[in-house]
Parts: sequence; structure tokens; C-alpha cells
Amino acid sequence: MEKILITGATGNVGLTTLKMLESGNYPGVEVVAAVRDIKRARKIDEISQCNFCQFEFDEPATYDKALDGVTKLVLIRPNQVTDVSNYIFPFLAKAEKLGVKHIVFVSIVGAERNRIFANHRTENHFKKLTIPSTILRPSLYMQNLSTLHRHDIQDHNKINIPSGLGLVNYIDVRDVAETIVTVLMNPGHENKAYDITGPEAMDFYQIARIFSDELGREIRYLRPSAIRFVRQKLLDKKQLFVVVTLSMLYAAARSGKMNYNNDVFRSITGHAPRNLTDFIHEYRDCWLKTGKMNK
Ligand SMILES: NC(=O)c1ccc[n+]([C@@H]2O[C@H](COP(=O)([O-])OP(=O)(O)OC[C@H]3O[C@@H](n4cnc5c(N)ncnc54)[C@H](OP(=O)(O)O)[C@@H]3O)[C@@H](O)[C@H]2O)c1
Repeated sequence: MEKILITGATGNVGLTTLKMLESGNYPGVEVVAAVRDIKRARKIDEISQCNFCQFEFDEPATYDKALDGVTKLVLIRPNQVTDVSNYIFPFLAKAEKLGVKHIVFVSIVGAERNRIFANHRTENHFKKLTIPSTILRPSLYMQNLSTLHRHDIQDHNKINIPSGLGLVNYIDVRDVAETIVTVLMNPGHENKAYDITGPEAMDFYQIARIFSDELGREIRYLRPSAIRFVRQKLLDKKQLFVVVTLSMLYAAARSGKMNYNNDVFRSITGHAPRNLTDFIHEYRDCWLKTGKMNK
């Protein structure tokens, strides 16, 4: 019997992973979603029937119960939990003590080289643990465009991202989730780290063209400076941790550090990753003037 615990289970990757594990109907596998608010999580239709446990990184008193009987852990660190020494490492120590046998950690491309990322410190910490782990380093999520940047595209026909001419190889969170499920359910991925990307790196002028072609109106890439971007996002009332996180990621893209291209997704799953043009076509409604929020 395996018991899999997923943190960040209502977020982009966690929710998709949870749905995929539930619909996979794996015999002998129990899946538990670790969430801050069970009542709120149950209101999400697609997962209302899942097993939940109450869990909060900043509440160590919730660790024991969440980890009880767990054999495999999908660790997704919420962006707002940056104090990894106080809230991620003690959780991992508890997982080790309670006998977790495999951890899949969702990091981000470049984290192994970028000391400023909280995921960098978390990746390094795995070297001190005895639990086998698999580190996945996805490139930026396509879904950022349909959530965080949706308003700019839908209402103002612009992509307001300070990445200069830097190339980004967006990946669909459904492909990240599929990678997680594959490495969880198949042996041979322990103590490995994988950079996972979409099929093609492109700059934001190219991305703006794809949007324009799909939506039938001109979407312009504004290429703002980092300072202008921060000012605009704070004026838009985005939370500070979101603005800081995005600024770091787009600075990395601007300096060419998000220009990844590899075939790792295919080698793990056996098929090609989704491409950005198809994603924009599939979700086009959310950027139409009458579009609804895509989460
Ligand atoms: N965005 C990207 O392009 C990108 C690309 C590669 C890697 N990543 C990495 O992906 C991770 C974030 O994953 P995501 O985008 O799937 O997350 P997300 O959509 O931002 O969701 C965060 C999740 O964490 C939960 N959460 C927030 N604070 C918590 C706390 N104190 N204790 C327990 N749970 C808490 C939230 O639950 P509630 O429902 O309670 O709020 C939610 O389920 C980060 O480590 C980031 O570096 C992001």
C-alpha cells in the first residue's frame, strides 16, 4: 500500500497532479491532499471527493498528522513560503523520521545555479537527507499567461513582462503534473534531477504574435524595464511576494537564463510536451474581451 501526500494541492501544479492521480485509479495507492483549508478545498468541484488533511507549512503542529503513514511525498513549495529553514527543512526532517521513502520536489529551471531562489536552498538541503528524491525543474508555466498576465492581455492588449529579448520555453502545468505522476509511479527516477521544458524557446515578441494571430487583434509586447514592471504590478494591487517572484524570474529570462531546450519530458513520458500555440488556442476564451478566468 502506498500513501502519497501532495502539498500545494489547490495550486497550479498540485491540483492538476491530484486530479491526474485520482483519475489514474492506481490500485493500492491512497492519495491525500495537504491543504490549509479543507472546507475551501472541497468547494473546488474537480477535487471535492478527494482525501484531505489540514496542513500548513508555517504550523509545524500540522506536520505529524499530515505525514502519518505517508510513503511518497510531492513537495510543492508555495512561493510565499520563503523561510525554508524554518518551514520546509523541519517538515522534511519529520518526513525522514516518519519513514517517507521517496520525495518528488517541484523546483524551477536554473534553481541549482541561482542562489537567490528559495528552491535553490531546498534543492541543496536534499543532499543532507537520506530519503531518495527526484528534483523536477520546470521552466515557466504557460498558465501564468492565463492567470497572472491575463488582465493585461485581455483588457489592454499588451504583454507587460520585463524580459527584454530573453527566450523562455514555457511548459504546460499538465505536462509538469504528468512528469510528477510518471516519476512517482515508476522506479528509476530516485536521486535524479530533471530540467523539464516545453518544445520551443521563444521571446515575447514571438509570443505576442501568436496571441495576435489567435485572438484576431494586435497584442503588443511592451518590453518594460524591471522598475516600470514592479511599479505597474504594485499599482495593479498584486501581492508583494508575487511581484518579487516574477521580477526574479523575468530578470533571469532577460539575461538568457530561461533559454532551455531539451527532450527530457519526452524521454520520461514517451511523448512530446504541449506547445504554446496550441495552449493559447485551447484557452483563447480567457483572453477574449468577454473571457472568463482560467485557473
Ligand atoms: N509559476 C511558474 O512559472 C513556475 C515555474 C516553475 C516552477 N515553479 C515553482 O512552483 C511552485 C509553486 O507552485 P504552483 O504555481 O503550483 O503554486 P500556486 O498555484 O501558487 O499555489 C500555491 C499552493 O500552496 C498552498 N499554500 C500557500 N501557502 C501555504 C502554506 N503556508 N502552507 C501550506 N500550503 C500553502 C496554496 O493553498 P491555498 O489554497 O490554501 O492558498 C496553494 O495550494 C514554486 O515553488 C515555484 O518556484 C513555478
